[in-house]
Amino acid sequence: MTDVEGARALEGRRNRILRGFDSDRGTSFGAPAIVVHPAFRGRQASPAGRSPEARLAEIAGLAAAIRLDIREALVVPLRAASPGLLLGKGQVERLATLVGLHGAEVVVIDARVTPVQQKNLEEALGAKVIDRTTLILEIFGERAATAEGRLQVELAHLEYQAGRLVRTWTHLERQRGGFGFLGGPGETQIEADRRLLRDRIARIRRELEEVRRTRGLHRARRKKAPVPVVALVGYTNAGKSTLFNRLTGASVLAEDLLFATLDPTMRRLRLPGLGEAVLSDTVGFVSDLPTELVAAFRATLEEVTEADLVVHVRDVAHPESEAQADDVRAVLRSLGVLDGGTPLLEVLNKADLLDEAARSALAGRPDRLLVSATTGEGVDRLVAAVAAALASGARTETIRLHPSDGRRRAWLHAHAEVLAEAEADGMLELSVRMGEGARARYRAL
Ligand code: GTP
Repeated sequence: MTDVEGARALEGRRNRILRGFDSDRGTSFGAPAIVVHPAFRGRQASPAGRSPEARLAEIAGLAAAIRLDIREALVVPLRAASPGLLLGKGQVERLATLVGLHGAEVVVIDARVTPVQQKNLEEALGAKVIDRTTLILEIFGERAATAEGRLQVELAHLEYQAGRLVRTWTHLERQRGGFGFLGGPGETQIEADRRLLRDRIARIRRELEEVRRTRGLHRARRKKAPVPVVALVGYTNAGKSTLFNRLTGASVLAEDLLFATLDPTMRRLRLPGLGEAVLSDTVGFVSDLPTELVAAFRATLEEVTEADLVVHVRDVAHPESEAQADDVRAVLRSLGVLDGGTPLLEVLNKADLLDEAARSALAGRPDRLLVSATTGEGVDRLVAAVAAALASGARTETIRLHPSDGRRRAWLHAHAEVLAEAEADGMLELSVRMGEGARARYRAL
């Protein structure tokens, strides 16, 4: 093989490695699937306050989010993970029968599955096996809205793959003739693959740095649309997207050029007495997020840290509604949203599923916004509350800055509405309209 042929072959292999994830998407799209939640007893048990059934419902919801056609979802009790198969032998046999029965092409396993377990399970089941991390990565990949979000997800994916490459492919390791420019003679295939992944990871890290450096600029540009941003957050399946559609459905116009360049998860929201806002939908929260995905998750939530108002959508009919809300609040706090002065509205969605007793218990609390994204109940009240929260304390003031204070000036352009800017007595005078939250953040600079 010539050097050029060798390089091409290697490039082809590299593309296959890097595309592995995409080809997963190809095979899994709409495919019949079985979802399994292994319920560990003892030390490895689910986090407190969450039943195996709720965990199963959650993973099934996530699998449905990547449009798998779920034929069956089951809890499999486990005392301990078997190193080779994860599940017990009899359990794998029963699962194989179900796979045959439903013609399932994919089995989603709500756990961390080692490469060896995955390979053995795929052989035993005759179906593709997707673990929890891969499934969540897939969802993040679809939902990452910003350049940084997309890079973070790709990085998380490559790092996850790199870790698995080391172990799965050990048996494939073989000596390969060296091509001077690719590595010394005697470099093994696995080393070359590892190096390609490492190079790609390094490149993405550099791109991320670049994106972070220019992020301020992008934000300033986005803020040129002089409208407040409202971010919807919430636990997975709480009804964010349904509410997003209900709130914006009537106001999406084909000729809406101002918003045409925004991400599809952002739409115009008309507010009575206040004009317009941008409503942005975000990726759902999940419990027990695999640690290597935390950075990617945060990056997909970048919009939230920029928002003028955060609307926390809750599934009030869910038996674990409180535990879910605590998870969401903890993440918001860690993003600096809860204590950073951004106003927050909590919305209790799926009111239509509540019985009379539960309803009247909540009705006595005027601070609670009870809505149903499905029936439209309470949505007008919610829109009024959003408008009121955004308008609260918004006023125009004049801020004088030293011309060299580029940082404060950039902040104001990014986070507030700068109505006018002029020089007076060697100082920069800005006429700025800000809400209470933005004013508090500005003072803390
Ligand atoms: P993720 O994308 O996973 O974060 O979910 P989400 O929060 O965007 O939830 P989504 O809007 O996809 O809704 C989840 C499920 O709840 C869907 O089956 C909706 O039809 C249902 N749903 C949403 N809102 C309501 C509601 O007010 N009442 C009822 N009964 N069902 C609702």
